[in-house]
Amino acid sequence: MTTRQRQTVPDTIHTNGADPNPWWANAVVYQIYPRSFQDSNGDGFGDLKGITSRLEYLSDLGIDAIWLSPVYRSPQDDNGYDISDYRDIDPLFGTLSDMDALLDRAHALGIKIVMDLVVNHTSDEHAWFQASRDGKSPYADWYWWRPAREGCEPGTPGAEPNRWGGSFGGSAWQYDPVRGEYYLHTFSKKQPDLNWENPDVRHAVYDMMNWWMDRGVDGFRMDVITLISKCIDGKGRLPGESGSDIEDEPVGEEGYSSPWPFSMDGPRLDEFLQEMRREVFSSRHGYLTVGEGQGISPRRNEAVTDPANKELDMLFLFDHVGVDQRGAKWNMVPLHLPDLKQAMAEQQDAVRSKGWASLYFNNHDQPRSLSRWGDTSSPELRVKSAKALGLLLHMHKGTPYIYQGEEIGMTNAGFTRLEQYRDLESINAYHQRVDEAHIQDPESMLDSLAKVSRDNSRTPMQWDDSRFAGFTDSGAQTEPWLAVNSNKAQINVAAESADPGSVLSFYRRLIALRHSDNVIAAGVFQLVDRDDECVYAFTRSLANRRVLAVVNVSSKTVPLPVETSLLLANGIDASRVLIANEDSDALATYVAEGKLSPWTAFVYQI
Ligand code: GLC
Repeated sequence: MTTRQRQTVPDTIHTNGADPNPWWANAVVYQIYPRSFQDSNGDGFGDLKGITSRLEYLSDLGIDAIWLSPVYRSPQDDNGYDISDYRDIDPLFGTLSDMDALLDRAHALGIKIVMDLVVNHTSDEHAWFQASRDGKSPYADWYWWRPAREGCEPGTPGAEPNRWGGSFGGSAWQYDPVRGEYYLHTFSKKQPDLNWENPDVRHAVYDMMNWWMDRGVDGFRMDVITLISKCIDGKGRLPGESGSDIEDEPVGEEGYSSPWPFSMDGPRLDEFLQEMRREVFSSRHGYLTVGEGQGISPRRNEAVTDPANKELDMLFLFDHVGVDQRGAKWNMVPLHLPDLKQAMAEQQDAVRSKGWASLYFNNHDQPRSLSRWGDTSSPELRVKSAKALGLLLHMHKGTPYIYQGEEIGMTNAGFTRLEQYRDLESINAYHQRVDEAHIQDPESMLDSLAKVSRDNSRTPMQWDDSRFAGFTDSGAQTEPWLAVNSNKAQINVAAESADPGSVLSFYRRLIALRHSDNVIAAGVFQLVDRDDECVYAFTRSLANRRVLAVVNVSSKTVPLPVETSLLLANGIDASRVLIANEDSDALATYVAEGKLSPWTAFVYQI
């Protein structure tokens, strides 16, 4: 069977109500960050024609769907997550007809396209926001406008309506002299938050979504969708939160309080998502909705993705990518493996009988997991740990997401100077923490950026070892918008395509396994040896089958932990190894001695 011919996942395991066997239950989704994937016109930015030219590659990889980060018209303050026209393509990426061509070609290859949907906020250059600024037009109430703090002169320091900080630095409120009031921006000041309490806003969003669905897209990845219901005036604190007033919120080291308790998973979130489902999806089939789930606990994930509640198909949760961060995201600590297991197990356990999970270690906001948790100190360890982390993620229950370049083992950018960064979050954080609040010195902040900046995952896709890695024409005058990683000669698609031992070949097999084996798609998850600090092991069971996934998440040879060794008491029979990053004889010898070599990962039929 070719990789994309798939088994039907048993109906009893999961349905989304509309579709008895949703295609995404054993699918693998691939995220494309358009500006970094493939440039077709030599301007140094990736574009839609470039993506279309690489669809055969994705088809060979075997993925089922693409999540396309935003390509809408945008001033590009936050690389397209600031949209000024939802019904047009930014000239940087091409035209609407390029988008139609991409959809046609992808569909011909059996690949679905899921668009990013950014509707917690727009760009400040969007016509809705511009019309909102006079305070009188029908758009006056489409954003969160508030007067200056009582007794303060509008626009002066400290006059903001409250102390909330924006995610990209500074206050979350921006004064607009035209209206004489402040608007809320959870992210940059060029990303004003839409007021979802206003039904006109919601219906304008649904109209736009229907327009894209009618054009042929296959669903949406919904940006920060769990922030759309807010308690803006501090009334009606969210359940489970202490305190009753925004003014009681503690002020952090940068001088601001957090808006999150008043905006994450807010009181009307379920209602809004149900309304969206009714208005956009009720008569459609074969689509996918996945929400970015800030503030959603595993328990709430179960409810939001329970088909009976008619909200979303799945959510991206955050706990597992925060286990090695303390307080601020810039404060990374070494991974303590049981913490990762615990976070993942909580997510898995919560979708045991209802709801669904998405699986990711990488995306355009995260550093590369290979640099973060793997070992890049030698080519052998890099390749082996990349496979180990891939196997670890893909053997959980849910829908795995691969972020471009992950499948070839791309690593962090390796930047050492502030000038090399383009991401507004990273640059603003540097200035705020180093120059303004004096929380970190330049050296330590550059070290933080090198570990966690979003630009680590945004460097151009490495297609070959030419000057610009095949991302853009190597004779082009214009350099890529973000520097190509200097390891392009060792890590690239051309070198890995025909090599059966490459990370790329291993990902092809991981994807094929999910398509062909229902235990991987739908089996019940059970953690094994929960407290072991090096070995991450779990079983997946369905009907009378049980498989064991074992990964040594360390660069040491380690003893097999107790429960795992009991499950492998009969030794390794090569015909029962479903997939491994080590040859079966070596694996059998190690297991017979009660050991695992560095970064060994395998799945075994027990
Ligand atoms: C989401 C996106 C991120 C963006 C932010 C604001 O978290 O993934 O890239 O900056 O929302 O839209």
